[in-house]
Amino acid sequence: MLEIQRVSKRYNKDKYALRDITLQLKPGIIGLLGPNGAGKSSLMRILATISEPTEGTVTWNGIDIRKQPNELRRTLGYLPQDFGVYPHLNPVEFLEYVAALKGLGGWNLKIRILEILELLNLHDALKRPIGSFSGGMRQRVGIAQALLNDPKLLIIDEPTVGLDPEERVRFRNILTDLSGERIILFSTHIVSDIEATANQIAIMSKGQLLTSADPSQLLRGVQGKVWSVTIPDHQLQSARSQWTISGTIRRENGLQLRIVSDRLPHPEASTLAPTLEDAYLYIRTTRGGF
Ligand SMILES: Nc1ncnc2c1ncn2[C@@H]1O[C@H](COP(=O)(O)OP(=O)(O)OP(=O)(O)O)[C@@H](O)[C@H]1O
Ligand SMILES: [Mg+2]
Repeated sequence: MLEIQRVSKRYNKDKYALRDITLQLKPGIIGLLGPNGAGKSSLMRILATISEPTEGTVTWNGIDIRKQPNELRRTLGYLPQDFGVYPHLNPVEFLEYVAALKGLGGWNLKIRILEILELLNLHDALKRPIGSFSGGMRQRVGIAQALLNDPKLLIIDEPTVGLDPEERVRFRNILTDLSGERIILFSTHIVSDIEATANQIAIMSKGQLLTSADPSQLLRGVQGKVWSVTIPDHQLQSARSQWTISGTIRRENGLQLRIVSDRLPHPEASTLAPTLEDAYLYIRTTRGGF
């Protein structure tokens, strides 16, 4: 288990990138959701023992990762947000190189590399230079290198950026295949990336943790608070200033708005079944995330 206790991070004197984060991570898939600058990467770098918190502690199975980072490092897989590859190497050569850097070896290393590449659906591209890969394929190489040591803690920072819808679906399936006894923490700012896969969703904004809950808890929190209202086109501006709008659909008789609100926003409003997107918006507006 990974326990984050009252962690704050300041890169310079008066600006907090992380503020008083307390969070427990258990085996499963945890989605770290938040807009740009929320602090997702800052938190992940601390968990990956690349940077240190200004305040607070992180323990891995009870051991302080600052005092004994190797306990965690041995069993950590990390894909940073700005992951670079060597374009002239093929994926097998690249993984051999990363394995050497990590001090991994043994007679079965090559077999392990081939197994991982098969798992990530890269077995048709073993001899091609990574430089010729699509964005999605490169991301999969990134995940492959994070899996070399069969990690118990896998941290992947914004792995779906730049992926097309098909690659996103493939990525979700890979996550599900990989889950089990390990903790998989991955960050995104796209709700649909985590909707189907995550057991736990942690929402961050402006360096703070707004909530951490399972998807059904988040949905329950916004039950009865999502409304449908149809307005004439010209009222859109004023509607935007009045309500939190999570979607608009053009209809013959005007614009149908999807509104997230504690109270009935309009006499003719009817309620809708909430989605995680609504829940995310609700939490960000009501807990000062905006
Ligand atoms: N090395 C650094 N030095 C100074 N400030 C930093 C540094 N890294 C991050 N920050 C600041 O800390 C805050 C949080 O940044 P962080 O990169 O952790 O957010 P993020 O949620 O990962 O954002 P994104 O979705 O854009 O990746 C931002 O205000 C950022 O400018
Ligand atoms: Mg980031």
